[in-house]
Amino acid sequence: MTFRHKHLLGISELHPREIQTILDLADRYAEQNRNDGPREMVLAGLTQINMFFENSTRTQASFEIAGKRLGANVMNMAMQASSIKKGETLIDTALTLNAMHPDILVVRHPHSGAVNLLAEKVNCAVLNAGDGRHEHPTQALLDALTIRREKGRLHRLTIAICGDIAHSRVARSNIHLLGKMENRVRLIGPPTLIPAGAADWGVEVYDNMAEGLKDADVVMMLRLQKERMDGAFIPSEREYYHRFGLDAAKLTYAKDDAIVMHPGPMNRGVEIDGTLADDINRSVIQEQVEMGVAVRMAAMELLARNHQTDPKGVMV
Ligand code: NCD
Repeated sequence: MTFRHKHLLGISELHPREIQTILDLADRYAEQNRNDGPREMVLAGLTQINMFFENSTRTQASFEIAGKRLGANVMNMAMQASSIKKGETLIDTALTLNAMHPDILVVRHPHSGAVNLLAEKVNCAVLNAGDGRHEHPTQALLDALTIRREKGRLHRLTIAICGDIAHSRVARSNIHLLGKMENRVRLIGPPTLIPAGAADWGVEVYDNMAEGLKDADVVMMLRLQKERMDGAFIPSEREYYHRFGLDAAKLTYAKDDAIVMHPGPMNRGVEIDGTLADDINRSVIQEQVEMGVAVRMAAMELLARNHQTDPKGVMV
């Protein structure tokens, strides 16, 4: 199946076979990235602009590396120093950049829905690098690729997503993706950090690790997103760690060969024990970062192809 989209805004709009298409291509790039072989410069001559209105280490760096590996001219907008600081709106900034004819815009924004809005105003490919608590599609895709490589499949697995679900776009995109691929998804966290209505998402909800982790193949920990909290959601970090922090003892509730994931950045000693996070026999956190570059190469290649084949050269 071909990948028909003009933008990558969320997992919710993808067909399972489109997810497979991205992962298959990304798998090839993952191998290519490991072996210093010849590279196809499929983005040669294209201009990629990264607009990050929120802090980022891995996502921004890997979009930049992914673009450069495929030959794109990559510009990182310094949003702190941009005219947004003078009061220009997101849309005016986007229209200004659009007039310079970029081919790819990578956007991260603190407001849910902002990237979709922006995509309606420009005529290049837009990739959502995380909007508020809404979606973070390339993160879910890199998580899926990591799981598929580790477990040999991406269906009929039991995957526990633990911690601050309420503020997490990573959780939402993963719930969409893992559900579409027919996995059993469990959410574990204190009721204050589980969004109202989560039980209707086709997931099981638990408020204790012993029950939630039972028979899990994958344990995905989430950061406590304090910057999105406008009040007290947990009694104390110490108590949170005691009840929901993942350490070697709690991991024994899961399957013996369960893998440990975290999208980063990590709060060691808050949601995860530092030694466990570094244990290469259980933790695949560094592989997630590695797969991030491959997945972003694949996503940008597929979008660029659609851009080129559009008869009028106009994106809708
Ligand atoms: C995540 C994000 O920004 O949503 N990080 C990431 O992209 N690797 C998760 C987080 O910030 O906790």
